[in-house]
Amino acid sequence: MPLLDGLQVVSSKIHGYGVITTRPYSQGEIVCYGDGVLYPGDAEFDDTYALILPEEDSGTGEVVFWDLVCQTRWFNHSCDPNTDVMAKWDHEANTVRAWWVAIRDIPVGEEITYDYAFIADVAEPCRCGAVTCRGLIVDDDPANLAKLPDHLRAQLRGPARVAS
Ligand SMILES: C[S@@+](CC[C@H](N)C(=O)[O-])C[C@H]1O[C@@H](n2cnc3c(N)ncnc32)[C@H](O)[C@@H]1O
Ligand SMILES: [Zn+2]
Repeated sequence: MPLLDGLQVVSSKIHGYGVITTRPYSQGEIVCYGDGVLYPGDAEFDDTYALILPEEDSGTGEVVFWDLVCQTRWFNHSCDPNTDVMAKWDHEANTVRAWWVAIRDIPVGEEITYDYAFIADVAEPCRCGAVTCRGLIVDDDPANLAKLPDHLRAQLRGPARVAS
């Protein structure tokens, strides 16, 4: 597939590779559509770069992974993100469609981020640098936070720590 216009993969201040903008985006604008490859939920593969669709949202009635294969693969997480990811099942094409929408104006050179909201089982320390950083890449729903192992719960910050 061709490279996504307006985006550039760089070495990130947050983690590893990240993606910055080469043009400004306005709040509400679609930043890009992703491209991916489908895997069933029980597949043995490295899901680091995959979006997950729960069974109720997937056309197969089962959990599916959509392994990102374009620049979106390198989008990092932030607890104060500048985009939201939307993902839905396309019944005609029998696959996932996903796109990222700017949730505020994004200037040239800013890193594109979204909130991964990981379940507790796969939570990781967060280095997003936001004032409101939760300390972990994790969904801050109290029921999810309650499932964190003690060594990770100790790294929570701010309201997420109080809610856990
Ligand atoms: C889809 S990859 C993002 C690209 C990644 N930077 C790389 O170079 O491979 C997701 C992984 O990047 C890392 N990552 C993303 N955002 C992060 C953050 N805010 N803090 C720490 N690690 C992060 C985590 O290890 C996460 O599982
Ligand atoms: Zn953070």
